[in-house]
Amino acid sequence: MPATSPGARGATITGWGSALPSKVVTNADLARTLDTSDEWIKERSGIAERRVGGSTAELSIESARRALAKSGVDPSEIDALVLSTTTPDRTVPATSARVQNALALTCGAFDVNAACSGFVYALTVAHGLIAIGARKVLVIGTDTLSRITDWTDRNTAVLFADGSGAVVLEACDGPGQLLAWDIDSDGSAEELLYSDIGGHIHMEGKEVFRRAVRIMVDSAQKSLTAAGVSAENISLVVPHQANIRIIEAACERLGIPMERAATVLRYTGNTSSASIPLALVDALDAGRVHAGDLVLLVGFGAGMTAGSAVLRWGGST
Ligand code: ACO
Repeated sequence: MPATSPGARGATITGWGSALPSKVVTNADLARTLDTSDEWIKERSGIAERRVGGSTAELSIESARRALAKSGVDPSEIDALVLSTTTPDRTVPATSARVQNALALTCGAFDVNAACSGFVYALTVAHGLIAIGARKVLVIGTDTLSRITDWTDRNTAVLFADGSGAVVLEACDGPGQLLAWDIDSDGSAEELLYSDIGGHIHMEGKEVFRRAVRIMVDSAQKSLTAAGVSAENISLVVPHQANIRIIEAACERLGIPMERAATVLRYTGNTSSASIPLALVDALDAGRVHAGDLVLLVGFGAGMTAGSAVLRWGGST
């Protein structure tokens, strides 16, 4: 998959923000109604609690406001809004319409659905928009999986939750941050993980786990190769927050120590499109990323999609 074209106008992330619902659901809360335990959930997934509530638009508006404030960009300057979600508030129109209106943006707005890889897809599309003329793009990843989770199914109820993360991407002089990117999908695996319209998520957990590790590693390796960097040069990997054991297995195969992984799933659960930006925002706010650092984003999800991107933080010199 492609390294960014040398002539393309570059971009950098200049603002970021996140939003989580206020309602906390602990493993102990779930164990009151499901045949499960805090110990099992923590050991098998790494999740201790999750946040539940709000609509996709509400959470998006909150995280986007924080990202805009951080960047100092006025909403009127935004040239496009790309919202990644697999749980839109309505079938029509796109949830981004409501977000665009609430934020008083005066630009085009659209949703992207690539399940849990969606934020990487959206960020890639945003870089493409900047390459062809946009100057400032708002990218949001939000999901409210609690609305499509069957709370009587212990196979899925212990994993999924709600949240949002957003970034402001601005055109810059010279090469931008995106060294290389990769997006993949394998639609033949649709039945492993799906939710019908109006229905709940069905998941073949074991098989999803097995494939997740493989496709994350494959996608990350394609991006690393295209960027011309090796895994040992990566300062921070920001993986999809599905299961700590998936992250550990993928990092081990990539040769990236776990200390370099950004993880928030212990208190967020799996928030699909929101999970990579939530982990990225957490790492940025903790001061874990410095100008010039190489950051690897990598996700996988239903579809089965995968997406990865290698960023040189602050842009290349
Ligand atoms: N609580 C207690 N016991 C449970 C639970 C639970 N919530 N769920 C399953 N078990 C039991 C099983 O019945 C089984 O019992 P048995 O040994 O008597 O048969 C035992 O625990 C082990 O079950 P496994 O399914 O083998 O457990 P595993 O270690 O594979 O963990 C899990 C299950 C957490 C679902 C894991 O397979 C996983 O994370 N898979 C990937 C899921 C994922 O990433 N999904 C998101 C994709 S991204 C997106 O697009 C949303």
